[in-house]
Amino acid sequence: MNTGSDPTARVTERTLARAHQLATAFLTSLPERPVSLVASPEDMRAALDEALPETGSDPTAVIEEWFARAERGITASPGPRFFGFVTGGVTPAALAGDWLASAIDQNAGMWASSPAAVQTELVVLRWLKDLFGLPAEWAGALTSGATMANLVGLGAARQWAGRRLGFDAARDGLAGQPPITVVSSSEIHLSASKCLGTLGLGRQRLRQVAAAGGSVDVAAMRSLLRTIDGPVIIVGNAGEVNSGHFDDLGALADLRDSHPAGAWLHIDGAFGLFAAVSPGLAHLCRGVERADSLASDAHKWLNVPYDSGFAFVRDAAILRESFAASGAYVVGGAGWDPLTHVPEMSRRFRALAAWCALKAFGRAGYRAVVERCVDNAAAFARWVDATPGVELMNPVPLNIVCFRLVGREDGELATDELNRRAVKEIQADGRAFVTGTVWNGRAAIRAAFDNWRTTRQDVERLQAAVEDVAIALMR
Ligand SMILES: Cc1ncc(COP(=O)(O)O)c(C=O)c1O
Repeated sequence: MNTGSDPTARVTERTLARAHQLATAFLTSLPERPVSLVASPEDMRAALDEALPETGSDPTAVIEEWFARAERGITASPGPRFFGFVTGGVTPAALAGDWLASAIDQNAGMWASSPAAVQTELVVLRWLKDLFGLPAEWAGALTSGATMANLVGLGAARQWAGRRLGFDAARDGLAGQPPITVVSSSEIHLSASKCLGTLGLGRQRLRQVAAAGGSVDVAAMRSLLRTIDGPVIIVGNAGEVNSGHFDDLGALADLRDSHPAGAWLHIDGAFGLFAAVSPGLAHLCRGVERADSLASDAHKWLNVPYDSGFAFVRDAAILRESFAASGAYVVGGAGWDPLTHVPEMSRRFRALAAWCALKAFGRAGYRAVVERCVDNAAAFARWVDATPGVELMNPVPLNIVCFRLVGREDGELATDELNRRAVKEIQADGRAFVTGTVWNGRAAIRAAFDNWRTTRQDVERLQAAVEDVAIALMR
């Protein structure tokens, strides 16, 4: 960059160069770095809490200072040995795209504020539909993650149900209107039930049926629907978070089609949708193309930086009705305005990271990433199965392995406590990061495989960490 005599440009260049050094040192260290230094809240408060500075500081010194003070609390979550929650890494192209998005700082809310950002988003949405075999005519938008994608899909569902019941939910609100019924399995993701709260549909009003093993009991759902007179929103899972299991999406679509008062099928495919990329796994997603709305994440298996997700809705008019926005100062321009499809108005240019990631890997690259992750999950599951003192909680159809240590002590309570301690000990060990859960009422451990860089050697290090912790705790 020729910064010439512009002092602001010189400061920017120097500060970005330092951020670049810090970032590359961090990225280079990822394969070997301890995956967590297990900072306590007190550690982080001591490291970072301070009064608002009254005067400013040199920007290069600021960025250095933050990194040095915060480092203990930075997990190696983009690295290949972070198996907690459902966490993707970041491909080089995605990272470069994200950096550039910050530098050019486009407002991707409206065509008028950035035709480049909006057209890029349209292309990314079309590529994603193509990648997953979804109908090309579906409307959609990028979101901050699957939670907001669930909000977009369920917001459109609410609008549809209101119309069936004779009111306009976005315009009139829900107060005094006939209730809208939402049904799901017991394994609905907490983000979707959070959305039901946000949308005024009510977390507690959700009607649920069993999901033994993670997949909805279709017969129970059929029976439940028979007891409901009005229009219904059905929420299905393409990839349940603890087990990776899928609802029978085709069966849910059939139930939607046969409900006398009409039904809307929303599917949460935050990570499971990526099964559709692999010919050998695509059967898990069969029926997803019959959904009315679909939520997924890009910061998981697409391996783009936080935060990034996407939502699709079959009926573009209902989607626009849900999130319409017009005002004297945001008159629609020549092209598409994403702000009429999502809750936000101004928004980050997320499409650039996704565009770069998809362009750099292509369909074949993402197929390879998904299949490698699924192979790694299967290898780990085989190890769990073959290792005394560890047991699988569930068969593993995709990329989530739910397992637990089985202690010598009698009693489930002792085993539950053993597993809760094991999660903490594995995290503290630093070789691999796993998170805990409760499955079938029992404390368990989850390992999720979404990172594009994870190798079989990384899986072996996870195994060694689990084995060492198990031996130490059961001694
Ligand atoms: C099935 C499912 N749905 C929704 C979410 C929420 O996604 P996000 O945290 O990106 O909003 C997750 C996150 O793990 C998930 O696994």
